[in-house]
Amino acid sequence: MVEVRNLTVSFEGQTILKDIDCEIQRGQTVAVIGESGCGKTVFMKSIVALVQPTVGRVLFDGVDLASLTPAELAVTRRRFGFVFQHAALFDSMNIFDNVAFPIRQNEEDTDEEEVNDRVRQHLAEVGLPEEVIYKRPAELSGGMQKRVGLARALVLRPELIVYDEPTTGLDPIMSDVINELILHTRRLYPVTSIVVTHDMHTARKVADRVMMFYPRRRLNSDQSQILFDAPPSQLEHAEDRRVRQFVRGEAGDRIREMNQGMA
Ligand SMILES: Nc1ncnc2c1ncn2[C@@H]1O[C@H](COP(=O)(O)OP(=O)(O)OP(=O)(O)O)[C@@H](O)[C@H]1O
Ligand SMILES: [Mg+2]
Repeated sequence: MVEVRNLTVSFEGQTILKDIDCEIQRGQTVAVIGESGCGKTVFMKSIVALVQPTVGRVLFDGVDLASLTPAELAVTRRRFGFVFQHAALFDSMNIFDNVAFPIRQNEEDTDEEEVNDRVRQHLAEVGLPEEVIYKRPAELSGGMQKRVGLARALVLRPELIVYDEPTTGLDPIMSDVINELILHTRRLYPVTSIVVTHDMHTARKVADRVMMFYPRRRLNSDQSQILFDAPPSQLEHAEDRRVRQFVRGEAGDRIREMNQGMA
């Protein structure tokens, strides 16, 4: 469904992603892991054309996203759902209007009764009680806000959904609620998902496949930036020491490097 070909993204001369090649099959759930700043968010945004490749291409159903006109891209984007790193809700709108927003924006002829049904159905699907519907985002806990973000991302029944750090900042129970929601969504219909996360519980629990990125600046030009690309069950047995260290949360050589930096 998604083909990434020779993707390179640079900002102001600094290369963040280089020569990334991968394919993501329809219905797959891919976790993207790696240390802060390695380019996970940039990768995810490239896939949904929120970031343009400097070199290379991203194809969605065989179509190069960069070849689309703005109007065509807008149509294609309706097939994508986004859950951003911070819930990114509209503060000035209540929960109902936040979730209704994509419908009103993209399906203008939908009557209010149907909007009402769909919003309530999606809020119920993510386990939010009726009484939050007319509250503002600021009145909700972080976990509830993430669930509203998820409901809003799902309301147009996207074929591809990207989650950026869906569990970051949540307590372990609320994180697991979000993990279950990601799994539940996948069971409800055959969505393709990309989950950017630091959270190894999330990666292990929701993903069929884990891709680990490494910061470009730490690599030689001939080294691949993807250190690992396999099912999560293989993480423990990864040949690459950097993968095992990341998965176990070990600082490894980094402490020595930092000490040398200070010397
Ligand atoms: N629009 C932009 N303009 C300039 N630099 C950018 C832009 N977006 C990202 N970067 C840079 O690209 C690098 C990778 O950023 P990215 O947000 O993808 O990291 P990440 O792996 O998602 O990190 P984190 O885990 O902290 O979210 C960072 O150094 C960042 O400063
Ligand atoms: Mg990020």
